[in-house]
Amino acid sequence: MLPRALLLSLLPSLALFAWAQDGSVTGATSSAAAAGYSCDPTKCKLPTCNCASTSPPGGLNGFVVFTADDAVQSYTIDAVNQFLAHRQNPNGCVPRMTYYTSLNYTNYTLVTDWFVAGNEIADHTMTHVGTPPADEINGNLIALNALAGIPLKSIIGFRAPFLEYSVDTLKLLYAAGFTYESSSASAIPVTDPGTDAFWPYTLDNGMANDCLEVNNSCKGQPVLPGFWEFPMYAFFDSAGAAGPHLMDPWLDIAAGNTAINDSATLEYMKNTFTAHYNGNRQPIGLYTHPVHLSTTYPGVNPSNSTINMINEFLDWAQEQQDVWIVSNEQILAWVQNPVPVSQLDTVTALQCSTPQVPATQKICNGIPGNENGLLELCDFPDFPFFTCYGCPQVEPTVDEPNPPQNVPSGGQARFRLPTNCSTPFWDPVAGNCICSSSNCAFTDNARPIGPNGANLTGGGTGGSAAASASTTAAYVPFNGRGFALPPGVWAATGVAAVGAFVGMWGVWGFL
Ligand SMILES: *[C@@H]1O[C@H](CO)[C@@H](O)[C@H](O)[C@H]1NC(C)=O
Ligand SMILES: *[C@@H]1O[C@H](CO)[C@@H](O)[C@H](O)[C@H]1NC(C)=O
Ligand SMILES: *[C@@H]1O[C@H](CO)[C@@H](O)[C@H](O)[C@H]1NC(C)=O
Ligand SMILES: *[C@@H]1O[C@H](CO)[C@@H](O)[C@H](O)[C@H]1NC(C)=O
Ligand SMILES: *[C@@H]1O[C@H](CO)[C@@H](O)[C@H](O)[C@H]1NC(C)=O
Ligand SMILES: *[C@@H]1O[C@H](CO)[C@@H](O)[C@H](O)[C@H]1NC(C)=O
Ligand SMILES: *[C@@H]1O[C@H](CO)[C@@H](O)[C@H](O)[C@H]1NC(C)=O
Ligand SMILES: [Zn+2]
Repeated sequence: MLPRALLLSLLPSLALFAWAQDGSVTGATSSAAAAGYSCDPTKCKLPTCNCASTSPPGGLNGFVVFTADDAVQSYTIDAVNQFLAHRQNPNGCVPRMTYYTSLNYTNYTLVTDWFVAGNEIADHTMTHVGTPPADEINGNLIALNALAGIPLKSIIGFRAPFLEYSVDTLKLLYAAGFTYESSSASAIPVTDPGTDAFWPYTLDNGMANDCLEVNNSCKGQPVLPGFWEFPMYAFFDSAGAAGPHLMDPWLDIAAGNTAINDSATLEYMKNTFTAHYNGNRQPIGLYTHPVHLSTTYPGVNPSNSTINMINEFLDWAQEQQDVWIVSNEQILAWVQNPVPVSQLDTVTALQCSTPQVPATQKICNGIPGNENGLLELCDFPDFPFFTCYGCPQVEPTVDEPNPPQNVPSGGQARFRLPTNCSTPFWDPVAGNCICSSSNCAFTDNARPIGPNGANLTGGGTGGSAAASASTTAAYVPFNGRGFALPPGVWAATGVAAVGAFVGMWGVWGFL
């Protein structure tokens, strides 16, 4: 039925590797009986509670949510930009998207830049493992905060690698202070009876998606009050519920075809959009692994026709009235406090955000013009990266996501983002916040992401060696276990040893 598409791109010369693994579903992942869901909307009320429902919480506007998964590199940012950078939403702002970021091969300074440009940075584990343990989830927060200067309170979302999650995963996310999870599938068309295309809902009454897939889920479980589930909405071709297309639909073969056919893909993407748009306007999701679409990643040669097709889809979608291209975080902000279309401009999360930092200010703050010349190169053989916040002595790992900073002899350690300054206003070289007005005032959260639920914050110079006066604690692994290779995932670990196995597109595994 559904092709499982997989792209492995190994570039031994650059020692860079971008993760890409399709999250596929092969049919309905839920049913009304399996869901056994009940929720009383008179008791469960916004903004902190929302029943799973196919009806929109507010007025009828169209959302196209755009997400990307895995490592953040220049190649993957280029790939996203070719679809979004030239566009505007109805309010004139450039669309923003969600990047579910994993650690391996991420170029940290680009995460800073992407975040400061207004995009959502979310968690996708450190080393890209499905059904992850706590240290994979929380270590990524610690590393993103330390090395990319992302405030802890800004990392609110999670997507599981391979979309593999369990009830325990949901509980770990809840305990770590996440706002939402987005790995479940909505895999029954909105036009079918029993569709599971729910708007984001809270788990006050358990899960209502993936009830046939995830053990001990649904029928009221798990109860995680105020924690949101944001289903991923599949596209459907003529096979309907028998053949949902979830991530990277352009890598799938549409029903009735024997090879990838971009015209056929465009046709069913438009049809699914129209079904949502003419109905209850559940979001449409472009869930991408951008490396597949990168024209700058050496050796990866995506077809122009596919790239043009995706842009054609977005052009067409934007011609419909009241259609916005957004991040998951933006939709959630609207769901929590829905306003009619005519007032969408008043939703802060949808407004343009350009930090008012003078171009002449030379600080390493995630704005290319300001930070030019101030980045440090952390030249690790596995994956070199740049950062504003000082290179660690060793590569971050699950056991030590925030290693001590490597301070050059006679040099000065860089200062990590503190809890009372936002990223574009923080000068990590001088250890100074250039914000002096209430407009840019900021307070980060502590999150219970340390060992045994210890509350951590940003600040200091980072790592165990240079624990500062702030609450940045030395990081101790949760369980003291060593790093283990999950079966099947690390087949390509010996990157440097593998020959020039570059940009192989494989489509196989017809299930
Ligand atoms: C990493 O970031 C630096 C600074 O923006 C950039 O010059 C470099 O090309 C990036 N490399 C990759 C592979 O992303
Ligand atoms: C789900 O439960 C079944 C039956 O107990 C078990 O065989 C299976 O391994 C479980 N799956 C997962 C992912 O834990
Ligand atoms: C590709 O899909 C289009 C639209 O469904 C169809 O008209 C065309 O014949 C298909 N091309 C091939 C080679 O199958
Ligand atoms: C794809 O597009 C690029 C940029 O427009 C162009 O340089 C290249 O020749 C095109 N490739 C094909 C196969 O058409
Ligand atoms: C990913 O990171 C882990 C932990 O740092 C490391 O052990 C592993 O070798 C990395 N994977 C690859 C493919 O380099
Ligand atoms: C942030 O906190 C530090 C340490 O408590 C304090 O010295 C500094 O003045 C504060 N900065 C701002 C902008 O509030
Ligand atoms: C972390 O902070 C929360 C909220 O202040 C508190 O309830 C919790 O007990 C703290 N956790 C630990 C381990 O101190
Ligand atoms: Zn992934």
